[in-house]
Amino acid sequence: MKLIAPSVLSADFGHLADDLQMINRSEADWLHVDVMDGTFVPNISFGFPLMEPMRKYCTKPLDVHLMIVHPEKYVERFCDAGAWSVGFHLEAVDDPSPILDQIKAKGVRTCLTINPDIDVKRLVPYLDKVDMILLMSVFAGFGGQKFIPETMDKIRFIKSEIDCRGLSTLIEIDGGVNTQNAAELFAAGADVLVAGSAVFGAPDPEQAIREMKA
Ligand code: DX5
Ligand code: ZN
Repeated sequence: MKLIAPSVLSADFGHLADDLQMINRSEADWLHVDVMDGTFVPNISFGFPLMEPMRKYCTKPLDVHLMIVHPEKYVERFCDAGAWSVGFHLEAVDDPSPILDQIKAKGVRTCLTINPDIDVKRLVPYLDKVDMILLMSVFAGFGGQKFIPETMDKIRFIKSEIDCRGLSTLIEIDGGVNTQNAAELFAAGADVLVAGSAVFGAPDPEQAIREMKA
């Protein structure tokens, strides 16, 4: 699969509806929604008050990426707020399984995420329990960082683990994705590319999305 999920973190929140209409017109597949709590990551983004306008004005599925401690307290509210998928960080919790069950019980797709310093092998036991794996290709917390090249080998590793089990678990990559590296990431086995600054910072965002998909 070759999907593009622009990250709303890089949108203009003063003109959010305009940016969402651009996403609606574009070839983007999902809208990636980065929620940061200032504790799991050294940055605070936004929470529930923005889910409402995003659900109202965005026609694309909302791919929620929780960068928060205690995701078990909030995953259900994000499901109720209109998330199409909800992901949280493996390293933020003791046992992800009951939290995955909370999300599944809401009929919402699950995603398990790791930062670049977490061993990718730790995801293997969950490959058959989630809809998607999100490999961070920068340290979670800020848009506009540089892609970490070691991510490429991790994609190939996790793709082969998924394939040898006959699973259809998606691989999403988040951080430093742009029109230059998108093709290589898809070729390595990525299914979904998140792009914030490379979309909203582009002179023609719709063209940037088209180029990444091509
Ligand atoms: C970073 C977020 C990313 C971020 C990506 O913590 O998870 O989704 O918005 O931004 P870019 O594409 O600019 O690296
Ligand atoms: Zn993200």
